Amino acid sequence: MLGNSRIGLAITGILSALALVVIGAGLFVESGIYNIGADDHHTKIVLALIEQLREHSIGMRARAIDLRYVEVPQRIKAGAQHYAALCVGCHLAPGVTKSEIRPGLYPHPPNLAQEDLHDGRRAFWIVKHGIKMSAMPAWGKTLDDAAIWDVVSFVRKMPNMTPETYQELSKDQSEFSK
Ligand code: HEC
Repeated sequence: MLGNSRIGLAITGILSALALVVIGAGLFVESGIYNIGADDHHTKIVLALIEQLREHSIGMRARAIDLRYVEVPQRIKAGAQHYAALCVGCHLAPGVTKSEIRPGLYPHPPNLAQEDLHDGRRAFWIVKHGIKMSAMPAWGKTLDDAAIWDVVSFVRKMPNMTPETYQELSKDQSEFSK
């Protein structure tokens, strides 16, 4: 009997604590205290939570993707041209070191001219599906999978690329669209 009432008390305690947490979270959200402005950074704990959520979510989904890097120069050039049209403003490129939109973006887009994208599946998934509550769009709404692999294959080559090569690859939209 005594054991049962102790268990009952413990359960009531746990449920009350949970109810308090839920009510507290609700009050916090409704109060408007949290600054959602992009010119204010997340607190450390919110940032850590978002990062964990993002990495696990992407990791789980990217695992199933078939790696399809392309090495054909024409496909890399096609990737460069998509990149110059769609991505450079946020992610920069060899010889392109700033843009008007970048300073105001939070989370800050990585400089892909310097980043070694060693995990192609992860990069493909992110480019295709985008990332919620960040400025990263889901390009799968605009590009088919083959075009996304062209872009990913090009991005992979950027860290060793000279500004001249980037200019050469990314120009000539008209020839590409013939
Ligand atoms: C409007 C700005 C914007 C545009 C345009 C944009 N991105 Fe992004 N991208 C971001 C932001 C912001 C992040 C970081 C998101 C985060 O940290 O949660 C990101 C993240 C990424 C990442 C993940 C990098 C890493 O190491 O985690 C890749 C890859 C990427 N973008 C590729 C591209 C490509 C390729 C294009 C063009 C087809 C593109 N992005 C266009 C804003 C943009």
